[in-house]
Amino acid sequence: MIEDVPRWWQSGLIYQIYPRSFQDSDGNGIGDLVGIRQRLDYLQDLGVDAIWLSPMFVSPMKDFGYDVADYCAIDPRFGTMEDFEALLADAKARGIRIILDLVPNHTSDQHAWFQEARSSRTSPKRDWYLWSDPAPNGGRPNNWLSEFGGPAWAFDAATDQYYYHAFLPEQPDLNWRNPDVRAAIYDVMRFWLGKGVGGFRVDVLWHLLKDDARRDNPANPGWHEGMSPTQRLLPIYTTDLPDMQSIVREMRAVVDEFDERVLIGELYLPIERLVRYYGAELDGAHLPFNFALIEAPWHARELDRLIRDYEAAVPHGGWPNWVLGNHDKPRIAGRVGIGQARVAAMLLLTLRGTPTLYYGDEIGMPQATLSVAEARDPVERNVPGFGLGRDGCRTPMQWDSSLNAGFTTGTPWLPIATDDPAVTVAAQAGDPGSMLALHKRLIDHRRRHPALSLGGFHPLAADGDILLYQREHGGERFLVALNLGPTEADVALEASVRARIAIATEPQREGESIAGTFTLGPDEGLVLELVD
Ligand code: GLC
Repeated sequence: MIEDVPRWWQSGLIYQIYPRSFQDSDGNGIGDLVGIRQRLDYLQDLGVDAIWLSPMFVSPMKDFGYDVADYCAIDPRFGTMEDFEALLADAKARGIRIILDLVPNHTSDQHAWFQEARSSRTSPKRDWYLWSDPAPNGGRPNNWLSEFGGPAWAFDAATDQYYYHAFLPEQPDLNWRNPDVRAAIYDVMRFWLGKGVGGFRVDVLWHLLKDDARRDNPANPGWHEGMSPTQRLLPIYTTDLPDMQSIVREMRAVVDEFDERVLIGELYLPIERLVRYYGAELDGAHLPFNFALIEAPWHARELDRLIRDYEAAVPHGGWPNWVLGNHDKPRIAGRVGIGQARVAAMLLLTLRGTPTLYYGDEIGMPQATLSVAEARDPVERNVPGFGLGRDGCRTPMQWDSSLNAGFTTGTPWLPIATDDPAVTVAAQAGDPGSMLALHKRLIDHRRRHPALSLGGFHPLAADGDILLYQREHGGERFLVALNLGPTEADVALEASVRARIAIATEPQREGESIAGTFTLGPDEGLVLELVD
């Protein structure tokens, strides 16, 4: 359903920046807020409506910012509060909103709350975290596992109890059943909303509540030796608990205290459970992140099915969204190849729903292969050999062919993924055949034609490697035809239909008239404007 006046987060494009890797302004090899500010012209020109910044709060950086030691202060590696406010103001002047990453599930073990909580069993903040006595045999309280390898309970010798950490031991989980914890995080939200941020992407939203009785998680019947040991159990008592919806409602109510803000949730869940996070009365997250395209095998029939299933599952009045990549998952160009990455971009930017674009994907940055010595991600170090390491998708943005791709004058914290000068903004900016130019045309077209952003979505029957669907709004109709395979394929239009190619993955075809049957080349995608 299109509301009378669509919200900016419905019609717009969200662009994710991993601040460590976007632009370094002071030569320490780590990106920063001043660097992002310097690149706002680029983002405006690309056509982004909002930037989601991965965490830039004070942090010991055990999990590169997802271990927050102070929710209301900027880590000096990224800059100062003045830098943040200047970025916010300059972005606003360009019509770009800033969405922050809220990490409410856990803090850093260096956060003052945890320091206080661990100081004694009678600390007023003890119950802000999840403590448990050892089991009768002196061992861990139950079998819960950390997502980052090993058991999820760490022993605190000083107070003779264990605390729960879904991620690193340096990331103790907060106790979301404690109303003071909830109130404290809601105040953090108000602090940033009051400064004018556009909303939040909420980290691991489905993790916030854990079973009060602390029952063992059951074995995962689908687990086998080739799978990561972190998947040995089904996390039914540690994630997606039934009472999560009341928490999401509370968060949404805080966001709604301010005008026109957005609440986005990170949720790795099957579609039917994911869509519950819209809330029974659409009073939950505006955009429960839909990672179906990240997780699905890249086959036309598979995608066709998941798109239909997702469209059918989104509640009436709820707004869809799509994601191809983020700072935790292998880059799209690495997963599907650079030819298909163009098709994927066309898909992302023509489906119904808000697209989130991961920095660097617009120039086809590859998934980097790092040596063991270069690895920085704790997941790679703790659970090696399962391809879970996330450094390969976090390498520095490639601006030009100068030193370190223009990212830093110092030593970059992660290596540059490729020294191919063609995979840079500078090389692609002037080349109409480039990945960047394709993104710009698609984003621009989307902006000028509501049929592509807000319009109705109609999947069409197709075979083999072809994906076909129509978008329409207010008398405008577009047919999107994507070839997900490496061989040519024909697509037949109804005899009476006349069309013009509006956007093509290879721009030479743009403007071509089409009637009857047309051919899609290997890895080719076309957006056809139907003219009658
Ligand atoms: C989320 C973040 C990831 C982080 C984890 C723990 O999944 O996206 O980067 O490591 O939460 O905070």
